[in-house]
Amino acid sequence: MRVIERAVELSATLDEQRSAGRTVGFVPTMGALHDGHASLIERAAVECDTVAVSIFVNPLQFVPGEDLAEYPRDLGADLVVAEKAGAAVVFAPTATEMFPDASRTTVHVAGLGDVLEGASRPGHFDGVATAVTKLLALAGRSRSYFGEKDFQQLVVVGRLVADLSLPVEVVACPTVRGSDGVALSSRNRYLSVDEREAAAVLHRALRAGAACVRAGERDPGEVVDLVSAVVEAEPLVTLDYAAVVDPATLATPRTLAGELRLVLGARVGATRLIDNVAVEVPR
Ligand code: PAF
Repeated sequence: MRVIERAVELSATLDEQRSAGRTVGFVPTMGALHDGHASLIERAAVECDTVAVSIFVNPLQFVPGEDLAEYPRDLGADLVVAEKAGAAVVFAPTATEMFPDASRTTVHVAGLGDVLEGASRPGHFDGVATAVTKLLALAGRSRSYFGEKDFQQLVVVGRLVADLSLPVEVVACPTVRGSDGVALSSRNRYLSVDEREAAAVLHRALRAGAACVRAGERDPGEVVDLVSAVVEAEPLVTLDYAAVVDPATLATPRTLAGELRLVLGARVGATRLIDNVAVEVPR
């Protein structure tokens, strides 16, 4: 496996692969790789000839007061996971390599990046969109793999790829969960034993919300009230938001119909976690 720090070298390496007739799969990450990341890399390795993984803790997507300094960084361990899962190339740039001092461009995906998680973390999705645009531009023509766990990110990335005509196919991959239902996340390692146990309420609440939609509830407010009540019964968890949204627009429909996503953001102790599930109401 080749480890690359320079942006131009990543582009040149992947161009060489394409010139040799090989397809490229690209998996952008912030490192601290877990089985969820491994599942993205493994899928890319099944579907593409050469898989590149980026490992970059993107400072632009942390809002003031967040865990940028504490975010887990262990390149050695990440390289082992990436190689085992099938990566041929790892791009691990420094912050100045990614964003030299002269960088002045911000990518803003209007509407989609300002709601839900974006309302609680102003500027977060500008940071994500700016970094992802640059990474996808460097990777070039490829299939790029994103987890559904970060559902709003997936929607934001899909939209910027379409709007900017990037030569990238965005591939959405299912959330990987622990046996307790907790969605795998690099931030789970911040949780104490009690907090980890409490975090299981998030998926439980989403499942209860989805079950109530399936049982015939069509009022999004009622579904959100149910999800909130389940979460709020767990004293270690503070709900930030819960919503039922249209998966394309992230807006809440007046009446529930068609494909929907139940999404939520919450604090478990001091750790911010997000989760979501899909539910469909046949039209
Ligand atoms: O999901 C992540 O790890 C990050 O938000 C991403 C997509 C790598 C952008 O920094």
